[in-house]
Amino acid sequence: MKLAIGNDHTAVELKNTIMSHLQDKGIEVVNVGTDSSESFDYPLSGYRVGKLVAAGDVDCGVLICGTGVGISLAANKVPGVRACVCSEPYTAALSKRHNDANIIAFGARVVGDEMAKLIVDSWLEASYEGGRHQRRVDLITTIEQTGRLEAAE
Ligand code: RB5
Repeated sequence: MKLAIGNDHTAVELKNTIMSHLQDKGIEVVNVGTDSSESFDYPLSGYRVGKLVAAGDVDCGVLICGTGVGISLAANKVPGVRACVCSEPYTAALSKRHNDANIIAFGARVVGDEMAKLIVDSWLEASYEGGRHQRRVDLITTIEQTGRLEAAE
């Protein structure tokens, strides 16, 4: 498995912790975030990881900023990205099982190292269930691709 990871200045340490954790599992990690504590605009990392995931250059992505919010908002503007902010492992697993999340995001100011590892592990170990969830994911994709959802108008 190949995974892209991105972050801003608030999350350099947690990014390194998660990278090591993933590499210990044999996962190849592409780091496109900042490695500096200098202020760094999170949309740059969100966009980079989003593009790699959407292009199929990596299997999935991890994004970390202060809260996980801004960086996931940026990634979600890249067509094909489904980035979910999760602060605990249950939501992380469901974001894969039901929402087919291809990027997980969390906040370095919100979760500690061990919780972050649990979040990533739960998400990686879960599988998309398809079935009734596919119709709903398809509706999200329709909004993304057309800017409309006729069924809701
Ligand atoms: C940076 O101060 C902070 O705004 C950023 O890391 C993130 O939390 C934004 O959503």
